[in-house]
Amino acid sequence: MKSLLALNWKMAPEKPTDAIRLAKSVAALSKKYKKNISFIACPPFVHLAAVAKASKAFRVGGQLVAADSTEAQTGLISAGMLKASGAQYCIVGHSEARARGENNEVVAQQIARLVEKKIIPIACVGERARDTQGWYLSEVKDQVESILSALPRAALRQLVIAYEPVWAIGVRAERVATPAECREMIIYIRKVIADTCGAKASESVTIVYGGSVDEKNARTFLTEGAAQGHLVGRASLDVKRLGALAASLIT
Ligand code: 13P
Repeated sequence: MKSLLALNWKMAPEKPTDAIRLAKSVAALSKKYKKNISFIACPPFVHLAAVAKASKAFRVGGQLVAADSTEAQTGLISAGMLKASGAQYCIVGHSEARARGENNEVVAQQIARLVEKKIIPIACVGERARDTQGWYLSEVKDQVESILSALPRAALRQLVIAYEPVWAIGVRAERVATPAECREMIIYIRKVIADTCGAKASESVTIVYGGSVDEKNARTFLTEGAAQGHLVGRASLDVKRLGALAASLIT
């Protein structure tokens, strides 16, 4: 089965020319590894249309969507605009957006807007911290249940859930998760989905890992961590590292 490699470019690159250059490199990698890896580039909205036009070799996703498209919202982007700009996916529920105030209810509304426009959500879940009693599991359970509450059953098959423990993300990460920690949580997420939607539906959801993924650790999340792909931040902006990461997945 192909693994999914979703690239979260966050607030980079600054210049449109650099975004196009990066997109061309992603296109080259996507062609090279087309049998094994499905690439999804998620640029900032300002570059989305240009990146989507740069190549048909990979798919493109947004990083934000308005929860309510019925009223004018200064500064926000509607699901319809994402669609018209070429997005087939959109990241929602990222911990950086949650830290800005987007709660489970908002994330559920965003998912509903995406589904209306047939855009596939890449829905992020993950605990802020781990404890020894397993309370962190209930934080993730609530996130998963609210995602499910917004999805018609028919859309479940396409759903992508990204397990991203907050403590493993970005320059302030404590450390990367171990494959065992990832595996435990992915099994738990599947159980939560199965309890609501049934075992068959649960198996149909794609679950990927994100948080300090790089060329050295990526493969073990597939082989030992039960992940079906990755959501990559920093390493997705460096063409050499991204190339090495992609190569590491198939050797
Ligand atoms: P890093 O890979 O930079 O830790 O970011 C992970 C992430 O937030 C992807 O969505």
